[in-house]
Amino acid sequence: MKPFFYSLIACLLGQIATAADPPAIDPPNYDEAAIPEYTLPDSLTFEDGTPVTSAEQWPKRRAEILNLFSEHIYGFVPEGVSNQIFPTVRKEIDFLDGTATLKEVRIHFAKADGPFMDLMIVAPKGVEKGSPTFLGYNFGGNHITHPSTEISLPESWMRPSRTPGAVVDDKATEVGRGSTTRWPLQKFIDNQMALATIYYGDVDPDFDDGFENGAHSLFGKPEKPTEWGSIATWAWALSRALDYLETEPLCDAEKVAVFGHSRLGKTSLWAGATDERFAMVISNNSGCGGAALNRRRIGERVARINTSFPHWFNDKFNAYNENENALPVDQHQLMALMAPRPLHIGSASEDLWADPKGEYLAGAHATPVYELLGKQGMGKDIRYHLRAGKHGVTDFDWDQYINTFKTEVLAD
Ligand code: GCU
Repeated sequence: MKPFFYSLIACLLGQIATAADPPAIDPPNYDEAAIPEYTLPDSLTFEDGTPVTSAEQWPKRRAEILNLFSEHIYGFVPEGVSNQIFPTVRKEIDFLDGTATLKEVRIHFAKADGPFMDLMIVAPKGVEKGSPTFLGYNFGGNHITHPSTEISLPESWMRPSRTPGAVVDDKATEVGRGSTTRWPLQKFIDNQMALATIYYGDVDPDFDDGFENGAHSLFGKPEKPTEWGSIATWAWALSRALDYLETEPLCDAEKVAVFGHSRLGKTSLWAGATDERFAMVISNNSGCGGAALNRRRIGERVARINTSFPHWFNDKFNAYNENENALPVDQHQLMALMAPRPLHIGSASEDLWADPKGEYLAGAHATPVYELLGKQGMGKDIRYHLRAGKHGVTDFDWDQYINTFKTEVLAD
């Protein structure tokens, strides 16, 4: 009787486990030869099947594509969301041995005492008109960019850190100051460029919280499966940061390059797509849901990302789990939404999870749209680099982005 009893229990437990398990996900593929055949949707054919033949027709086709990405992947900003911001300057001092200004601005959303994000600006001194600016989120708080105790610690929920002691009870501590090399502040200053950065968790803490915290606490749960996930919310707040930069004398709001790494690279791409005020768009190792083509089904795939991070995209995106060919768009069309503005896609050779080749191809397949608009596309207005090494942001990556910013935005 005993073995039967145990097998009955095991069977019941198995059934319980099966009921709670996420849907089966195919193991990741890293073999180019195993990529299924696919056809990419055409950016230059209207939804009714007629071809797009002139630059004048592009805004209409662009609106169709943007709408498809909103509906099926990232989500619409819900109706009634207020774009009003209430900024307060909290600090403005000399920084980096007097070569720069450090400014901290608290930006409340929708109402003066609403949820807020803390924007940190590090800008070169002595620039009359305001400097060209990189705007991007950081993963661990503004204070991780530099050891200075002048930089305020974030107050919001903090994700776990790889630096021991840098986060205690979900809050950032002094230990985390200067703990990353991802933001070469002096390099920006030496190139006469500013950095504006925000801890992304100020806007929406990065876990599946049922839309209760961060900016979402103002607007409530989405009512439709096509409404925003966290990436769209983070992107929306980058636009609110740009609204602020339009009033900021240290920055030239017409020359803002929106930057992001990894999930925040997915975010910078969506910000660049939804807000054409960004003069240049940078995706660093953004991978699945960013620059990598979904239909290649290599490295991270739609089912995997939707299961691991159910809050990043809208609910409708789940319909494409293990079903990428049914998507009405693919990521080359997200790249095309940047046209004619400069777009720089950075990959890393060992970052196979993010599919460096798929990231390149998405840029390459956006070229016809750039050409329609009188630009050249890949190699000129669309830049791509493949750095040796792992997933991350290095000085080499920044040298490439600074160069593209200089040659494609500032030289005009
Ligand atoms: C995970 C996730 C990626 C994401 C990355 C990051 O690896 O699968 O899609 O880009 O985290 O943001 O660090």
